Amino acid sequence: MKIALAIFDLDGVIVDTAKYHYQAWKRLAAELGFDFSETHNERLKGVSRMRSLEILLEVGGMHKTPAEMEQLADKKNRWYVEYISAMDESEILPGALEFLQEAKAAGAKIALGSASKNAHLILDRLNLTRFFDFIVDGTLVSKAKPDPEVFSLAAEKLKIAPARCVVFEDAAAGIEAAKRAGMFAVGVGDEHVLHEAHLIIPGLEGVSFRQLCGKLPEQPT
Ligand code: BG6
Ligand code: MG
Repeated sequence: MKIALAIFDLDGVIVDTAKYHYQAWKRLAAELGFDFSETHNERLKGVSRMRSLEILLEVGGMHKTPAEMEQLADKKNRWYVEYISAMDESEILPGALEFLQEAKAAGAKIALGSASKNAHLILDRLNLTRFFDFIVDGTLVSKAKPDPEVFSLAAEKLKIAPARCVVFEDAAAGIEAAKRAGMFAVGVGDEHVLHEAHLIIPGLEGVSFRQLCGKLPEQPT
């Protein structure tokens, strides 16, 4: 099999945490005195916590010092952690569990490539940690997607050549990161957003890992 490592983005591929990020950011915006809509929230997907806060403050037309920003980001994260701590297996996106099981049964290694510093907590809540051979989260990388670091690090740690890796991503920046890492990129979600991917699927439900690998091009170029 040409694919030896399957790397998964977390938010939007395995679980829908965007709604919890949104609740927490909206609560922070309300406290600061402005409204933060769901449309605004779209801009935060795949973006780091600090960058998300910068965008939020931009929306509210506010300026804060770096120290104040640290405090605001911490506050948002405390609320977010409160929300995600109540999650359980029922929040795994349709088909994701079966897909992980099949990829493992097919002999592929499995890694996570996420910008979130809460990735371990989320995988634990979903009872999915056991599937992962290596977890790259926001605490291990310094450069955000579309930089390839998050995916390259997983391949390096597991000693697998990039051309034998496939990445599953719901954000355009993640597709770009996977391609820059020299890997196959599978877009999970909206084909208009993910058109640069080697292959696009609406979700993991009903998708066979083996069949999908067979549909990838010869080279991840
Ligand atoms: C990404 C999410 O996975 O993680 C972003 O798509 C989020 O919306 C980012 O801002 C950072 O998450 P956390 O958990 O470290 O605040
Ligand atoms: Mg995502």
